Amino acid sequence: MAKTRVSFLCSACGSDQPKWLGRCPECGGWNTLERFVEPKGVGLAEALVPDADDSGARADEGREGGSPGGPGAGRRPSAPPRPIALHEVPADAAPRIPTGLAEFDRVLGGGVLPGSVILLGGEPGIGKSTLLLQALLSITSRDRTALYATSEESAQQLKLRSERLQPSAAQDPSRLLVHADSVLNRILEQAARLRPSLLAVDSIQLVARHDIAAPPGSITQLRRCCADLVSFAKRSGCAVIIVGHVTKEGLLSGPKMLEHLVDVVLSFEGDRHHLHRVVRATKNRFGSTQEVGLFEMTGQGLIEVDDSALALDASAAPRAGSILVPTLAGSRSMLAEIQALTASGFLGSAKRKTSGLDASRVGMLVAVLEKHAGLRLADQDIFVASAGGLRITEPAVDLGVALAIAGAHLRRATPALTAFVGEISLAGDLRPVRQIESRLEAARRRGVRTVVLPAAQAVEDPNLRIVPVKRISEAIEQLDASSPNS
Ligand code: TYD
Ligand code: MG
Repeated sequence: MAKTRVSFLCSACGSDQPKWLGRCPECGGWNTLERFVEPKGVGLAEALVPDADDSGARADEGREGGSPGGPGAGRRPSAPPRPIALHEVPADAAPRIPTGLAEFDRVLGGGVLPGSVILLGGEPGIGKSTLLLQALLSITSRDRTALYATSEESAQQLKLRSERLQPSAAQDPSRLLVHADSVLNRILEQAARLRPSLLAVDSIQLVARHDIAAPPGSITQLRRCCADLVSFAKRSGCAVIIVGHVTKEGLLSGPKMLEHLVDVVLSFEGDRHHLHRVVRATKNRFGSTQEVGLFEMTGQGLIEVDDSALALDASAAPRAGSILVPTLAGSRSMLAEIQALTASGFLGSAKRKTSGLDASRVGMLVAVLEKHAGLRLADQDIFVASAGGLRITEPAVDLGVALAIAGAHLRRATPALTAFVGEISLAGDLRPVRQIESRLEAARRRGVRTVVLPAAQAVEDPNLRIVPVKRISEAIEQLDASSPNS
């Protein structure tokens, strides 16, 4: 008989160690290794969906793209796969299923691919269950069936939540089936019987296989349950969305190690005390990871918003420390706002706090401001944030960040209707940015009149006043020295 393999998995980074150690050698986390026993026995999906082609159960009438389509569909487990030439591999004809929530579909690359597995991570209370319920309700308007397996909330709680949402007339709530259960075996049994287009499991931390003697949320359960869900999706062609909670530090607590098992990893971000929510893909086997979806949490659930929610009105009164920047997220260009505040601190222990921006990049820009613009910031506490909860890490916002700090420190207001874009080098020079045209377009669309940009990219624009600058010190001169307003 084969010996059971015992290993130790890190709950922070998912690394696999042969013996227990106090400190994970991969990520350096203390006390993060947990014992993991590879459970014996057949996977649930194999037992439940022996052959995807054998559509004995009720097929979902809505799956017009060839039932059951999707990656892996039609693969007979009995026949071992043989290598075939790449050009002979049949094209996957299964169309994507648009959820109908345009911002969610945008991040997914046009909808959910049948047979794919999506891991939706986010802090507790951010709105994952709300987003899921809306997406599932929305696909019922296309004559598709969805199964919502809820292990955290009761069916009644889900019903209460759905009553807050604004349903569209096309939705058919009778096609959304709710299954309040935390036993994975039973959830998969129901899914195999009902054959929905989409199965949602909310959340993976609270489901467990009853034949494995480990508590829900433990590494053994998480890994095995996720593997079963992936295997079920591939065999049945049903798309699966798995919800995973993320801790404050951004760790998918436990599910970090699930990321390689699934096709798409989405992170649902935003400040719980702030209304805006951003969905972004951190991994997408079938699309871009650059796209973001923007939502606002309202009394009637999440509503889709455009970038106007992210920035101050471009015509707002000039303020020091607030800069408009045209930024890119995937195929979308938008106008965002960077805000900075400086306050007297203590030399040697001055604070540098950032929100939504790359902290080390901000540190570098502070050094550039000191060295090449003559600002004395060593004893200043500096706080910089991107307004609206959007995370911006592209270097094209360097100029905006540097000028927000400089403006706040020098008490110079930003001229009205002006946006700033450019990457800053360590020598204090402005470097060109990619896709300047779409950035200018975003600025025009939002009523900006003047754009300050790197001299190398100076263009003629009939609707915008273009101010080319070469160095950071030159750009600071664009801030209004005459009307301090802070
Ligand atoms: P929820 O979806 O339960 O978050 P998660 O599943 O990520 O833990 O949503 C949490 C918050 O959203 C909750 O505090 C209430 C708020 N909310 C609204 O503001 N409006 C609504 O219509 C709904 C359904 C929730
Ligand atoms: Mg929830």
